[in-house]
Amino acid sequence: MKKEIVLTGITTTGTPHLGNYAGAIRPAIAASRNDHVESFYFLADYHALIKNQDPERLKQSTKEIAATWLACGLDPDKVYFYRQSDIPEIPELTWILTCMTAKGLMNRAHAYKAVIQENEQKGKKDLEEGVTMGLFSYPILMAADILIFKANKVPVGKDQVQHIEMARDMAQRFNHYYGDHLVLPEAVVGKQSAVLTGLDGRKMSKSYNNTIPLFLPEKKLRKMIMKIVTNSLEPGEPKDPDTSAVFQIYSAFATDEQVADMHRKFEEGIAWGKAKQELFELLNAHLAPYREEYNKLMDDPGYIESTLQKGAEKARRVSVPFLRQLREAIGFAPIA
Ligand code: TRP
Repeated sequence: MKKEIVLTGITTTGTPHLGNYAGAIRPAIAASRNDHVESFYFLADYHALIKNQDPERLKQSTKEIAATWLACGLDPDKVYFYRQSDIPEIPELTWILTCMTAKGLMNRAHAYKAVIQENEQKGKKDLEEGVTMGLFSYPILMAADILIFKANKVPVGKDQVQHIEMARDMAQRFNHYYGDHLVLPEAVVGKQSAVLTGLDGRKMSKSYNNTIPLFLPEKKLRKMIMKIVTNSLEPGEPKDPDTSAVFQIYSAFATDEQVADMHRKFEEGIAWGKAKQELFELLNAHLAPYREEYNKLMDDPGYIESTLQKGAEKARRVSVPFLRQLREAIGFAPIA
């Protein structure tokens, strides 16, 4: 039986945070242990280039993210684990798809629209200020990431579902012109891969600067959790769990029973300091073993690099012949 292909990428900007972990890394690693799936996980450094023109930061982030996936239990022998920029077939397919993607489709992409909206709110004359072609068309790059490996399922946060729909559109368009070559992917947004709330109550995201890094030393982790914004309700006053970042993050790491317990404590008016302390203890217990492994890997960059090189070789055994097939289909074939 043909295995189902699961693929996901993580953009190499910034330091991995709890939202990345709960939204992508954890569910992806769990899925990779299933023998009925073939998993592809990659460091999306071409995507990082959209926002990051600082080579040192890009390198550091790539190293941190690679170490994070490995520390969290990804088995590089069992899965495809590679760096996007080591796979030249991806940018090549990106261009091919670009030529059959309606500009109007890209106009609707959230990431682009968000910048336009922000410029509008700031009263800027030029609403396109700060919009590069990279930002504008990055759903096409993302489609190429997915389609080059014939992914069936793509675990992503809710905010990324739109891009998977767009990848389907592009695949359909390609297949309409050239025959049935590309596989239509589906987004998977599991219960676990909910979007986490950040320190300020908005979605936890590098771009909002409101994240909790995944592998902070214990003391710093506690300090950061204490900084999560709350309202000013006193101990003893009932608190609404559904609008609380503390409760929401707690829920992403706790068992159903622990969640129900904490829900009751909120209704009974647990003090914010106490709720945060419980969140810290839960997180710390969960993360401590991974943190130790992470620190070991960060001290051994040679191992990380050779793992990525092997991963790229393995991935290109798939992407090279498939791109050759696609090139033939579109008419990039020897004339004689
Ligand atoms: N754009 C995704 C994000 O910001 C990361 C990503 C890049 C990705 N390529 C992908 C996710 C392909 C899934 C599949 O989270």
